[in-house]
Amino acid sequence: MAKAAKSSFVCQNCGAVSARWVGKCAACGEWNTISEEAAMVAPPGSGLAKATKGRLVTLESLAGAPEEAPRFSTGMPELDRVTGGGIVPGSVLLIAGEPGIGKSTLLLQLAAALARKGRRALYFSGEEAAAQVRLRASRLGLADAPVALAAETSLTNILATLGAERHADLVVIDSIQTLWSDALEAAPGTVSQVRAATQSLVRYAKAAGCALLLVGHVTKDGQIAGPKAVEHVVDTVLSFEGDRGHTFRILRATKNRFGATDEIGVFEMAGAGLREVANPSELFLGDRDVQAPGTAVFAGMEGTRPILVEIQALVAPSGLGVPRRAVVGWEQSRLAMLIAVLEARCGVSFAHHDVYLNVAGGLRIVEPAADLAAAAALLASMANTALPPKQIYFGEISLSGAVRASPHMGLRLKEAAKLGFTDAVVPSTGDLSADSSRLTLHRVTHLKELAEGLHPCD
Ligand code: TYD
Ligand code: MG
Repeated sequence: MAKAAKSSFVCQNCGAVSARWVGKCAACGEWNTISEEAAMVAPPGSGLAKATKGRLVTLESLAGAPEEAPRFSTGMPELDRVTGGGIVPGSVLLIAGEPGIGKSTLLLQLAAALARKGRRALYFSGEEAAAQVRLRASRLGLADAPVALAAETSLTNILATLGAERHADLVVIDSIQTLWSDALEAAPGTVSQVRAATQSLVRYAKAAGCALLLVGHVTKDGQIAGPKAVEHVVDTVLSFEGDRGHTFRILRATKNRFGATDEIGVFEMAGAGLREVANPSELFLGDRDVQAPGTAVFAGMEGTRPILVEIQALVAPSGLGVPRRAVVGWEQSRLAMLIAVLEARCGVSFAHHDVYLNVAGGLRIVEPAADLAAAAALLASMANTALPPKQIYFGEISLSGAVRASPHMGLRLKEAAKLGFTDAVVPSTGDLSADSSRLTLHRVTHLKELAEGLHPCD
C-alpha cells in the first residue's frame, strides 16, 4: 500500500526508527513511545531528491591562519560567560529547560537588550499570542525595545519571513516543539517535525549568518523532547536549570562548538524578570544559619569561577529496617561512598541513622572536591554541633579515606577570604598560591583527623 510505504514508526524518546509499531522501543527500552510518522524523503528545500550528480568539493589543509570566530556581546555578562564570550553570528543555540523555568523570559530580555543596541532581533513565539508577549515585555520594562515580534508556528511562514529579512542578527524561536511543516504529516512536537524544522532553520542561520536561538522543552528526566534529533544539529546546547522553590536559575553549557562547557551563568528570577548574579557566593550563602548543626561551607569551582555554597546534612536515628539516604543537589552514589568510607575507615556508624544531604540554593554540585565538606556536615550533624561559622572546606576523599588535593586551591581560598572567612580545612597536598596566607589553614591527610575532632565520643 502506498500509505504504508510512506510512514515509519519513530520512538519519541530516542528517535529510533522501526518498520512497524511496537509497544516497547527496542533501542531505548521505553514503553508506548512509538508513533507513526511520515517518512522523510529529503529535508524540505534541500533539493536532495533531485540531485543525482555530485560536484567536486575543494579539499583543504588544516594549516593556515585560524579565523577567530567573530562574536557579539549579548549585553548580559552571565550569558556571555556561558557562551564562551558572546554569540557567534551564524551559530545555532538550543536553550533547553523545563516548562516555567524562565526560557521565554531570558530570551525576551536578550532580544530586547540586543535590539536596544541597534541589532535586528526577531522573536517568533509559538506558545504565546503576541499580546501575551507584549504584556510580558511591558511588565519587564522592555516594551520600548525595537524587537520584531510574531506569533507563528508555521515553519514555511517563518522561513518565508526570514527570507525577506535583509539582515537579521538574532532570531528566537520559542519553542521548536510548536513548529510544524506542512511538508510532513506528523503532528507538531514529534521527532520528525522537530528534526525537519531544526534542519531548515539551521540551514537558514548558516546561510544568512544570523544567530539562531531555539527554545526546547525538556521532560522531567532531563531529556529534550525530540531529543538527540536536535542536540547534534545545533552548535551550542545551554541547559537552564533551577528549582521551582528557589529563585536561582543556572545556565549551563552542555555542548559548545565555540567555547568551553564548564562555565555557568547565575540568574535570579525576580519580579522584573531575570537578574544577573555577578557574585553567586554571596547569594548562595545569603540566608545561612551559622548556628545550625550539620552545615558546612564548600568552596567549589564552576568553570573558572569559585563559588561558595552551603552543604546541609541531617543525620537522624532511623526507625526503619533499611535507613533512608536522600540527597538533593549532589550524587546519590557519592553520598553512599562517603558513608561507606566514614564507616570503614573512621569507625562512625550510620547503620541506624537516616541521612539527608542538601546543597543550599538549588545548586547542583558535580565536583569530587565537595567530599570533605559533605563529610564535615555529616559528622557535625551526627555530633549535633555547629561547625565554626567562618570555616570553609574542600578536598576529594578516596576510598582509603585519604584526602586528595583539588584543582584551583588558591582561587577557592581567595574567594573565601574575600567573603570574610578566616579558616579553611584543606588537603595536605597540592599547590597553594601566596594569596591563601590570609586564611588559617587546617591541613588534613586523612578523613579520620576530621572525624576525631567531631565525633561525639571524643
Ligand atoms: P517563562 O519564561 O514563561 O518560562 P518558560 O518559557 O521556560 O516556560 O517563565 C515563567 C515563570 O517565571 C513564571 O512561573 C513566572 C516567573 N516570572 C517571574 O517570576 N518574574 C517575571 O518577571 C517573569 C516574566 C516571570
Ligand atoms: Mg516559554
